[in-house]
Amino acid sequence: MDRILEPELMDDPEQALAYAQMDFETENQDFVDRFREYFPDFSNGHVLDLGCGPGDIPIRFAQVFPACRVTGVDASGPMLRLAEEAVHQAGLTDRVTFRCERFQDLAGVSFADAAISNSLLHHVPNPLQFWHKLRLAVKPGSPVLVMDLLRPESPEEAQAIVDRYASGAPDILRRDFYNSLLAAFTEDEIGSQLARMNLTRLLIDVIDDRHWVVSGIIH
Ligand SMILES: C[S@@+](CC[C@H](N)C(=O)[O-])C[C@H]1O[C@@H](n2cnc3c(N)ncnc32)[C@H](O)[C@@H]1O
Repeated sequence: MDRILEPELMDDPEQALAYAQMDFETENQDFVDRFREYFPDFSNGHVLDLGCGPGDIPIRFAQVFPACRVTGVDASGPMLRLAEEAVHQAGLTDRVTFRCERFQDLAGVSFADAAISNSLLHHVPNPLQFWHKLRLAVKPGSPVLVMDLLRPESPEEAQAIVDRYASGAPDILRRDFYNSLLAAFTEDEIGSQLARMNLTRLLIDVIDDRHWVVSGIIH
């Protein structure tokens, strides 16, 4: 099945709120714990979260790494309003901040000590722009962890995954999940992207029936 693009930004307020209210606690905490497990020597510095959405991962990251500050980047105003609120409630406004900007437009080179990104890449029309920006933004020797959905073989399989994992979710989220699966990349496509960007030292791992993870040190 070919990739079918979905809208790049999640800037419909209703969609952003439904996403923020969804319980991603286990997945998001697993993501942060995975970073800690893969990079046990990492403990401080400036961390960039590309496509941070409603801010749950930056908050969890800052809680697990008390010597880090996190900048979340997302070009959706409604998402970032929810993120600001969540950070305020968590009492982390001194260490977690946001930029309402497309990651493609981020200025600066080698300004971050680590980069993370969960569930952004499938939104992006040209994935090479993502890997390019990731490499530019972090200092050489920095750890990166990127996770996203894996495109299934067929629309039927995508629907089966939605039914398996999101049966009780609101319709708007079930629709987004289905469209996201169709817009996602396969393991081979991610491998080709990394090869084209000279990022072959990063490792790809398919961790379950619907996710891949790319991790490693950027040189
Ligand atoms: C599925 S959400 C993931 C949010 C968060 N990372 C999480 O795991 O909960 C994807 C987010 O990426 C944002 N996004 C998509 N394209 C973007 C771009 N080019 N620059 C910045 N943010 C983008 C969307 O607005 C949305 O908030």
